[in-house]
Amino acid sequence: MSPAERICTPLNSDVPPAREGEFRPLNIGRLRLDTPVVLAPMAGVTNYPFRSLCREHGAGLYVSEMITARGFLLGNRLTTKLAAVHPDERPRSIQIYGSDPKDLGQMVQRLVDEGIDHIDINFGCPVPKVTRQGGGSAIPAKPRLLARLVRAMVANAQDVPVTVKMRIGLDPETLTYLDAGRAAQEEGAAAVGLHARTAAQLYSGDADWDAIGNLKQALDVPVLGNGDVFECWDALRMMRETGCDGVIVGRGCLGRPWLFGEFVSVFAGQEPASPPNLGGVLEVMEEHGRRLEDLFGEELGVRQMRKWTSWYLRGFRGAAGVRAQLSRLAAFDEMRPLITPLGLDQPFPLQALRASRAKGSRTQRVKLPEGYLDNRDDDTPPKGPHTADEIRAWEKALGAG
Ligand SMILES: Cc1cc2nc3c(=O)[nH]c(=O)nc-3n(C[C@H](O)[C@H](O)[C@H](O)COP(=O)(O)O)c2cc1C
Repeated sequence: MSPAERICTPLNSDVPPAREGEFRPLNIGRLRLDTPVVLAPMAGVTNYPFRSLCREHGAGLYVSEMITARGFLLGNRLTTKLAAVHPDERPRSIQIYGSDPKDLGQMVQRLVDEGIDHIDINFGCPVPKVTRQGGGSAIPAKPRLLARLVRAMVANAQDVPVTVKMRIGLDPETLTYLDAGRAAQEEGAAAVGLHARTAAQLYSGDADWDAIGNLKQALDVPVLGNGDVFECWDALRMMRETGCDGVIVGRGCLGRPWLFGEFVSVFAGQEPASPPNLGGVLEVMEEHGRRLEDLFGEELGVRQMRKWTSWYLRGFRGAAGVRAQLSRLAAFDEMRPLITPLGLDQPFPLQALRASRAKGSRTQRVKLPEGYLDNRDDDTPPKGPHTADEIRAWEKALGAG
């Protein structure tokens, strides 16, 4: 394809592919990624079926959704399924959620024994249920606590790289990323990922790429920029503008696993292939369905597929008219007869490239434990869910599975 035929929004029409030697491979500890792109951990999304689809298109690192340390250690059925090893996944990468250093250390040890290649810790979750207890995105506000948790993980990780993923702060008045990033680095984190929004912002507004540049200036370990990479060209722009070492891609790939192939092309200095037409998208959907069924069984697999149908079909002519039926999908083989009449030769819609696929534009006031910010030097771990029942309720609220 020539640049003139490039399928992109005006924002990216003049962005050149990478020049030879412009970007270095991304080194995260002993891992080396020639294409410096990471699939973002996403609850209810980056399970094995989707990770494996993305991986087939590209290179890079494909992180699991967050796996609750306590649920994992208790042997919770869903947690165990989501954390399961798949022999074809290499490197194998998992994101942990937890706030008890003992649990984190133990989980890391088990994962290392099982042959994990990369472990990330979630310090960015903005869900009120989590922050109200002092977990997730509340943790970087207490750098000594964050340091203690990272230390517990690194101490058990042997030579497996441990990375941290966080937001820029709680709200504009409480920006935490520079102190938190330095604390993580000092404790041996192999890289730091920054979703360049506050917890109060949730997913609204534009990500603040300047903050990614600031963190890059402040740290020696690799910095992974995150926020608003919707087109392969955005990754190049983010790396050029901020100097970051790699990018983490979340919402942009929902229903677009081929995006990872596009990253490989542009980082190799080439124009990417065009995205598939509706017929091609339908084939990917059917394959995704088969993989969801393999992992979750037919009933839960079909239920999972419902949300994916709206992501895959975003922007295609006529898709809105079948959305209601697809949201009640009862069997995978209902998809083809519903979608075929829309015209399988429809090209991929330009307006879908930056369309919002999840999470919307709400903002929030971040809920914290009473007096949480009074002593920011405190490193006492917060209380998280503990019993098997508490874990199940917790995972349901966080949208796992
Ligand atoms: C459906 C969904 C689930 C998410 N779950 C997680 C998660 O489990 N762990 C995490 O660190 N971030 C989670 N995130 C945040 C993403 O990893 C990422 O930081 C965020 O979407 C910003 O990147 P983007 O602009 O490329 O989407 C989630 C985001 C979405 C949309």
